Amino acid sequence: AGDNHVEDFDFSFEGPFGSYDQMQLQRGLQVYTEICSACHGLQFLSYRNLHDEGGPALPEDQVRAYAAQNEVWDPTLFDGEGDFRPATPADRFPMSNLSNAPDLTLMAKARAGFSGPYGTGLAQFFKGMGGAEYIASILTGYEEEPECALEGDPMDGYYNTAFAAGGFPDSCKYEDGTHKVPGSWIAMAPPLYGDDVDYADGHSTELEHVAEDVSAFLMWTAEPKLVARKQAGLTGVIFLALLSVLLYLTNKRLWAPVK
Ligand code: HEM
Repeated sequence: AGDNHVEDFDFSFEGPFGSYDQMQLQRGLQVYTEICSACHGLQFLSYRNLHDEGGPALPEDQVRAYAAQNEVWDPTLFDGEGDFRPATPADRFPMSNLSNAPDLTLMAKARAGFSGPYGTGLAQFFKGMGGAEYIASILTGYEEEPECALEGDPMDGYYNTAFAAGGFPDSCKYEDGTHKVPGSWIAMAPPLYGDDVDYADGHSTELEHVAEDVSAFLMWTAEPKLVARKQAGLTGVIFLALLSVLLYLTNKRLWAPVK
């Protein structure tokens, strides 16, 4: 089986008190729009969600303008024959343009970046599931084909150290089938090189930063209620801690005459 290399990026939404960075989500939306959307879709996300508190929180007029840049097929137009019209905030983002490019709405929850060691799940306990790290690692994980690959038949696709699910040449395997190099060959050409976008907020456009921004945005599309869920969890823990103290004291008092 293959091994892959996932970098442990620091994201603002990590940890018990983490939350999304609104500016980062807006930058990520820009990267998605200008680059990823050429091939990938976000079919489970509605334009109106871009206005959500705790998410990118775009003002309503910007959401309307963003939606209107896209067209949707409306079967009710033209006396039921259907026609295209500009999208409104109530519509969803389009599906993938390219049939073999997966939809990205839930990708950050569909993949785990960390696992093990030895099936204990400890890495995930300490570092988190790592869906966003996995995406950022794919985007920054393109490398020159390793030497061993040049000895065998040419591979389809691009060598990526974070992508484990793709093709892998026999010439890069040891005799027992284990891999000499991490990752595998992915069908997606490197979508980012650094300086791919112009950020209005002046944030760095180095490859790593652009990759982080779009990965954070895709974490939000997959888990838009993450912050609310964390807050509810924290309230629950505080409440239960208080309840434990009260129950302990009650117990003491109830049994005091007997002891
Ligand atoms: C696969 C992200 C741009 C074509 C993927 C995967 C991710 C991803 C996370 C899935 C890996 C997996 O299945 O585990 C992105 C992001 C992009 C981007 C964040 C923008 C920065 C593009 C573009 C194209 C493209 C522009 C087309 C030119 C594909 C294809 C696959 C894929 C064909 C399937 C690869 C395979 O299964 O071998 N992408 N992508 N992507 N992407 Fe992209």
